[in-house]
Amino acid sequence: MQNLQEVKTEFQSQISNIQNLKDLENIRLSFLGKEGLVTNLMKNIKNLTIEEKKKFGSEINQFKKLVSSEIQIKKENLEIAAINDRLKTEKIDVTLPIRKFNEGKIHPISKTISEIEEIFTDLGFEVTFGPEIEDDFHNFTALNIPKNHPARQMQDTFYLNKEDFDGEKLLLRTHTSSVQIRKLQDSKPPLAVISIGKVYRRDSDQTHTPMFHQMEALMIDKNINMGHLKWILEEFLKRFFEIEEISMRFRPSFFPFTEPSAELDIGYEKKNNLISIGGNKKFLEILGCGMIHPNVLKNVDINPEEYQGFAFGIGIERLTMLKYGITDLRSFFDNDIRFLKHFGF
Ligand code: PHE
Repeated sequence: MQNLQEVKTEFQSQISNIQNLKDLENIRLSFLGKEGLVTNLMKNIKNLTIEEKKKFGSEINQFKKLVSSEIQIKKENLEIAAINDRLKTEKIDVTLPIRKFNEGKIHPISKTISEIEEIFTDLGFEVTFGPEIEDDFHNFTALNIPKNHPARQMQDTFYLNKEDFDGEKLLLRTHTSSVQIRKLQDSKPPLAVISIGKVYRRDSDQTHTPMFHQMEALMIDKNINMGHLKWILEEFLKRFFEIEEISMRFRPSFFPFTEPSAELDIGYEKKNNLISIGGNKKFLEILGCGMIHPNVLKNVDINPEEYQGFAFGIGIERLTMLKYGITDLRSFFDNDIRFLKHFGF
């Protein structure tokens, strides 16, 4: 059996000859491994006197540390040497063009949303939010759309396998009008709010996706009339489309939660086969609006004799398509980066 001094000499001579990582690992095992030389020396300790044990114990511990650290240093040196060898043979072509990189850009839908929020906050509206998972009350009943009302069919949605406190199935909201009710439940008029977010319907074809974005506007005060609605709409559309004049046409319509109800058409022209907003020859439908139905106000404990208001709801995708001449609704969701580039986003 070798003594400590011999093992030390043996280690120094072996480690100085090492040329690769595999041999280095073998050395580690042959000294520090289970059957290694250092480990074997330690097994001897039980035959020593207390005094000898103290001395030997500290010497062997120091040696163990030395072995570990020398192996570590050797390992790092071998790794550096390997990198240097590789660099010697590697050729760098400095004439190679740099790799193209794509800078992140804002999605057109997000851009429209922030533009709308900016316009409406400037007009004195507050921005508010509601949940995408709604209950029957907020999405339908409180908005004067009772059970079995045919208007529910127009907005067929996705139901969850979970019920609310009234035992009605929860659903993905079909419109942002549900936020009207949420807002009116926790604050009292006068108020002016908008809410933008995702809505869901069981629709999927070239011009419909099961999820799309809507914006809702709601204003309630004493003596609010359709004139206020008209002015706000005109101001908003002019600012959004960045034009001086806009032709608007209110067409009578029906929504259970507004009375009277209207759809708004705006004038457009076709230039190079693309729609551009402006002019008064051709009209296209852009949004639904109306004066809040007295039943809706009663449902949230507001006296319709005292307060009146208007609301409108508009599709964000549609607005964005009209502003930037985008023709296929699905391109918003395909996430093809060429689409965003094409429109300068
Ligand atoms: N919620 C209606 C829809 O999604 C739009 C609307 C909102 C109509 C507010 C009138 C008032 O079709």
